Amino acid sequence: MAMWRSVCALLALSIASPCQAALEVDLQSPASIRAAAKVVAKNLMSYYHGDEPGMTPGILPGPPPGGPYYWWEGGALWGTMIDYWHYTDDKTYNDKTTHAVLHQANAPANNFMHSNWTISLGNDDQGFWGMSVMLAAETIYPDPPADRPQWLMLAQGVFNTQAHRWDDQHCGGGLRWQIPFANTGYNYKNSIANAILFNMAARLARYTGNDTYADIAEKVWDWMEGVGYIDKDYNIYDGGHVEANCTDIDKAQFSYTPAIFIQGLGFMHNYTNGTGPWDARLTALTKRTLEWFFPDGIAVEMACELDTHVQCTTDMLSFKGYVARFLAQTVQVAPNVHDLIMPVLRSSAAAMVQSCNPDGTCGFRWNKGQYDGLTGAGQQMNALGTLMALLVDEPKVIPPVTNSTGGTSLGDPAAGGDSSVERYFKPITTADRAGAGILTALGIIGITGTLALMSTRFGEGGA
Ligand SMILES: *[C@@H]1O[C@H](CO)[C@@H](O)[C@H](O)[C@H]1NC(C)=O
Ligand SMILES: *[C@@H]1O[C@H](CO)[C@@H](O)[C@H](O)[C@H]1NC(C)=O
Ligand SMILES: *[C@@H]1O[C@H](CO)[C@@H](O)[C@H](O)[C@H]1NC(C)=O
Ligand SMILES: *[C@@H]1O[C@H](CO)[C@@H](O)[C@H](O)[C@H]1NC(C)=O
Ligand SMILES: *[C@@H]1O[C@H](CO)[C@@H](O)[C@H](O)[C@H]1NC(C)=O
Ligand SMILES: *[C@@H]1O[C@H](CO)[C@@H](O)[C@H](O)[C@H]1NC(C)=O
Repeated sequence: MAMWRSVCALLALSIASPCQAALEVDLQSPASIRAAAKVVAKNLMSYYHGDEPGMTPGILPGPPPGGPYYWWEGGALWGTMIDYWHYTDDKTYNDKTTHAVLHQANAPANNFMHSNWTISLGNDDQGFWGMSVMLAAETIYPDPPADRPQWLMLAQGVFNTQAHRWDDQHCGGGLRWQIPFANTGYNYKNSIANAILFNMAARLARYTGNDTYADIAEKVWDWMEGVGYIDKDYNIYDGGHVEANCTDIDKAQFSYTPAIFIQGLGFMHNYTNGTGPWDARLTALTKRTLEWFFPDGIAVEMACELDTHVQCTTDMLSFKGYVARFLAQTVQVAPNVHDLIMPVLRSSAAAMVQSCNPDGTCGFRWNKGQYDGLTGAGQQMNALGTLMALLVDEPKVIPPVTNSTGGTSLGDPAAGGDSSVERYFKPITTADRAGAGILTALGIIGITGTLALMSTRFGEGGA
């Protein structure tokens, strides 16, 4: 396989290369799209070995240096596979998916914060698992057995632990990137972490009808604008450091961040029946994102996919797929942006198909008209996400449900509060809505507690 791929990469310049035959699909035909998605999904799942003897369920090979993929990308994979089931009705991977997600859920805390992953545990990493279980609830993906945690309660577990980490002491609010104090990046407040909190808050508000979530979504959005991470032209920048009160803004822009905000805005639009400030924000951010990340109507990861060369990390190689999936779900809850989004997803898909081989191995660059030899699980998720998105108008692909429109997943508004890392960060009682006065004292407990935890972890000589 590896050998064949590199031969293809060499041949890619030659006009007669067999590798230039694209993935066979008629993008006007839902049946053809489903058939092509099946081929791409199979190729994607060939990267997953977590269900083999001695392997850890839920994760892709890694984390580095053990393999290229960090823990969060497993969470992203299962969200992709839940969507795959939802869009195509192909149940082939459901058992693997359910087993994988429940293994990583960290029951009984139900917060996706297992101590195996502490040294790379960012709010965004945890949050990707959270968005995937939220999707399971919204699509009525088959519920786990009654004695296991349920999708909605897992989503609430992620949300609650994150909401309790909201930090008013620096930068006027916001979530930090990393969760444990000792991790590099704990002093960085970034847009992606806050994007996911916003997204989960908006979706939980709509699913449960509980306004508390919507209030938090509003708080996150206002903070993002206030601190200048979202500018007046709807660019969304990467983040800043607490030492600089978040004014040292790193202006890199990554496509998944606005996509996660757009999806959340779509849910806020829907939750408020199109009233309030959400519509204007949704339209403006959608337009800007399509303009910046889809030059000539083709997805490009602008910060690292340069005209001359690709300098994307493994993480970044997977962002295009989330963009397509999240924009497609937005269309379902916010029909007012349907005609902005769908033509671009279609033109991007048409280009993407040219980057794939007939066996469903897809490259990364979609604006070169051929396979580029740059393969991986992220690229497969990109291709699959983009293909599936074109099925969103099919009547069988139901819009995300709510608790009162067919949702079956059981929730627990207090989920997640009980994890070993979290207890050092969260206010004394769950009901305590983060009185700023006690945060300083808690900060001190937090530092001591986390250092104790971290020294245990490193003392084991692990990782
Ligand atoms: C944690 O790591 C151990 C040892 O590799 C493994 O057996 C277990 O399944 C892992 N648990 C999770 C949640 O990843
Ligand atoms: C820090 O930033 C926040 C948010 O932008 C602002 O409200 C606050 O006044 C700033 N604090 C200082 C000391 O500059
Ligand atoms: C609404 O959500 C908040 C935040 O999680 C929770 O504390 C509260 O109990 C919920 N209310 C109801 C009625 O479920
Ligand atoms: C949206 O409409 C629904 C159904 O008509 C109604 O129950 C709900 O209160 C409305 N919400 C807002 C924020 O207007
Ligand atoms: C909310 O979403 C539903 C689909 O669940 C859709 O039919 C409805 O038009 C949306 N409401 C608004 C205000 O866009
Ligand atoms: C969700 O719906 C079920 C059944 O329709 C109902 O028993 C339950 O109280 C609802 N939960 C919330 C949070 O509204």
